[in-house]
Amino acid sequence: MSVLNGKKILLGVSGGIAAYKTASLVRLFIKAGAHVQVIMTPASKDFVTPLTLSTLSKNPVHSSFFNQDDEDAVWNNHVDLALWADLMLIAPATSNTLSKMTTGNSDNLLVATYLSAKCPVYFAPAMDLDMYKHPSVLSSFNALKSFGNIMIPAESGELASGLSGEGRMAEPENIIAFLEADLESKLPLKGKKILITAGPTYEAIDPVRFIGNHSSGKMGFDLANEAANLGAQVILVAGPTHYKAKNSLVEVISVVSAQDMYDTCHQYFNDVDVAIAAAAVADYRPKVVATQKIKKAADEFSIELEKTKDILASLGAIKKNQFLIGFALETENEIENAKLKIQKKNLDLIVLNSLQDEGAGFKKETNKVTFIDQDFKIEPMELKSKESVAVDILNKVVSHFTKS
Ligand code: CTP
Repeated sequence: MSVLNGKKILLGVSGGIAAYKTASLVRLFIKAGAHVQVIMTPASKDFVTPLTLSTLSKNPVHSSFFNQDDEDAVWNNHVDLALWADLMLIAPATSNTLSKMTTGNSDNLLVATYLSAKCPVYFAPAMDLDMYKHPSVLSSFNALKSFGNIMIPAESGELASGLSGEGRMAEPENIIAFLEADLESKLPLKGKKILITAGPTYEAIDPVRFIGNHSSGKMGFDLANEAANLGAQVILVAGPTHYKAKNSLVEVISVVSAQDMYDTCHQYFNDVDVAIAAAAVADYRPKVVATQKIKKAADEFSIELEKTKDILASLGAIKKNQFLIGFALETENEIENAKLKIQKKNLDLIVLNSLQDEGAGFKKETNKVTFIDQDFKIEPMELKSKESVAVDILNKVVSHFTKS
């Protein structure tokens, strides 16, 4: 999945012949799953029509400070547009627009919006070869870079003037590749490996029966998706569940029993930087698994159970630098029990669910958790969606690595 998926992109088109290529650029953004809004300078409309870009972006195109076609002129709020964006790209960026960006000459909506943007700004210059090398243009490039803007260098080739050389706007495919590579390199968990457990485990009684629980696996899958969105390499060890990983970069390993989950986790644990145990692992399993289906006979029937291995505790016992996060589901003495689990399982952080909180627990879309860290710092969180809880947990992981 592209890192551009779900990103809100503001495309600023200025008036050069390369503007015709923005039609492909918008299509590629949409194909990557991005949301696109386009701002055009008045001059750019001579090269590509607003109708083309609004059709492809599925959004109205903005080009002036107010909507001229409307009798009650409606102001195009450049500040709102700028704040909407996760990323602004000016492509093609002509020498005129670049120069206005450096001096703050906001006589059009594109530059006014640029000046209001707080998101990362990229620019893809397009001009003739001599212009591209002119000291005045080079000083614009340098000024914009000094503002923290990122240049997508022009490419070499045939130019509109008939000359050949450097100055052609980067091809749309290359602009997309540049943005993806740049965004990926800046993801906060890039280069980190995370092991996550999810879902229930099934402990066989006989070939057709098992002991299981109501865990849906949603919390673990949300954690895995969010971790992958933040750039981590994710190994998700999942018990039986119908969930699928939304982020195709998540490696899902399906297991059935607590022992399978234990073995798989131990296979990967040494190589990971973080492990999060979100699975509802069975604490007990039948001591003997019948090889044939058990027939009904006596009025009463009991199954002897034995303890399963505690996966999280076993990881805590061998951990080196891994940041280890566990969950605790408690019904009474929540904080005290959770603190005991931190010590017993050698955790860095525990995510406490209290069944006394409405909206928390199995088969719910929401969760209400309290974080307790190794130093017993307690942080109660609001009731929120499991996706948002996953974001909060991964923020803890990110801040662990930014601190250390
Ligand atoms: N866990 C695990 N392996 C087990 C049991 C639990 O990895 N065999 C993990 C869970 O994924 C969770 C944490 O341990 O992150 C806490 O599980 P929980 O059931 O709340 O606590 P237990 O340690 O099993 O203790 P108790 O059931 O007595 O509360």
